[in-house]
Amino acid sequence: MIYLDNAATSYPKPRGMVAAMEECILKYCGNPGRSGHSMSMKTGEEVYHARKKICRLFGIENPERLVFTKNTTEALNMGLKGVLKPGNHVITTSMEHNSVLRPLKALEKKGVSHSILRADREGFIKASDIEKAIRPGTRMIAVTAASNVTGTKMPLSEIGETARKRGIIFLVDGAQAAGSMEINVDKMNIDLLAFPGHKGLLGPLGTGGLYIGENTELAHIMEGGTGTDSKSRIQPCELPEGYEAGTINAPAIIGMGYSAEFVEKIGPEVIGKYEEELISWLDERLDEMDFVKRYGPPACRKTGISLFNVDGISAEEVTGILSSRYGIAVRGGFHCAGLAHKTIGTWDEGAVRVSAGPFNTRREMEKLVDAIAEIGSRQNL
Ligand code: ALA
Repeated sequence: MIYLDNAATSYPKPRGMVAAMEECILKYCGNPGRSGHSMSMKTGEEVYHARKKICRLFGIENPERLVFTKNTTEALNMGLKGVLKPGNHVITTSMEHNSVLRPLKALEKKGVSHSILRADREGFIKASDIEKAIRPGTRMIAVTAASNVTGTKMPLSEIGETARKRGIIFLVDGAQAAGSMEINVDKMNIDLLAFPGHKGLLGPLGTGGLYIGENTELAHIMEGGTGTDSKSRIQPCELPEGYEAGTINAPAIIGMGYSAEFVEKIGPEVIGKYEEELISWLDERLDEMDFVKRYGPPACRKTGISLFNVDGISAEEVTGILSSRYGIAVRGGFHCAGLAHKTIGTWDEGAVRVSAGPFNTRREMEKLVDAIAEIGSRQNL
């Protein structure tokens, strides 16, 4: 299989990650923070090391401010529902994933309003447009670092500057960008960063996290056991335990820590550049095919995604043929971000999404191009 669905989840994973998880499960996996015995303590220590490694990647100084979650969606729900109160207003964009747009819709019932700014046809939103939408009561700006549909990178530094200047909480959805471009919470004035472990960080599925900035107060959206203050009926506020109620997925978190370090050693920018080169080459070839319509910005302004349709054949069908006939895995149709499809003009038909990862090669892209050429020409006969 040629795997080009890294925006859904990355594959393959570093071998060392599997070894780190195996070692945990086979040799010491106690419940961290719950007991005083050596297995529990060793697991706690390894989870702490993982926390520190991930913090390094995002420029987070205090590891306690990084809370582990089961995915980006959970982290976004915590960030949105934990901060926003009746009367608050949120600015967001039409390129957001449902994991931002659906919680915001649900929050309307609690008196939290939001404005969705329409991005341009390439999926880009200007920081100045966000600034213009600020009004009394605007408490948060919630923006994706890069669209999961087109890969379009948003101007995080500029938006962060505006948010900080105006005293507004800046929440970033790092789902498609973490691990393949620089995200530094300090430099970019990010107050809340939600990210997955299983995409660009090359970790296992079911992992993610939320960075909570020093000045950001977050209410719990879930209560339960924390291994601390057991006699109290009130949820402890301490970070990170207070926000990690219940037993955490320690082996997976330790695996994510291994992979984050692997990514850090290569460098997210180096990985991003490599993916950009693959996608830039692919986009050029696709643009030469008159039966292909491509969407989104040039490769230098997006993460490693190419989005397109083949004339006269549905995105789902192209995806099915690529898988069954050519052994190529991509994602087709809609991508859990309805308004993004409306913005770029694929509301009715969806699109085929190719997403590259650090282990893909030019040879694999060549095979994909040959396959698309065959699919398209067969269709045109
Ligand atoms: N949000 C993921 C994607 O874009 C699953 O495919």
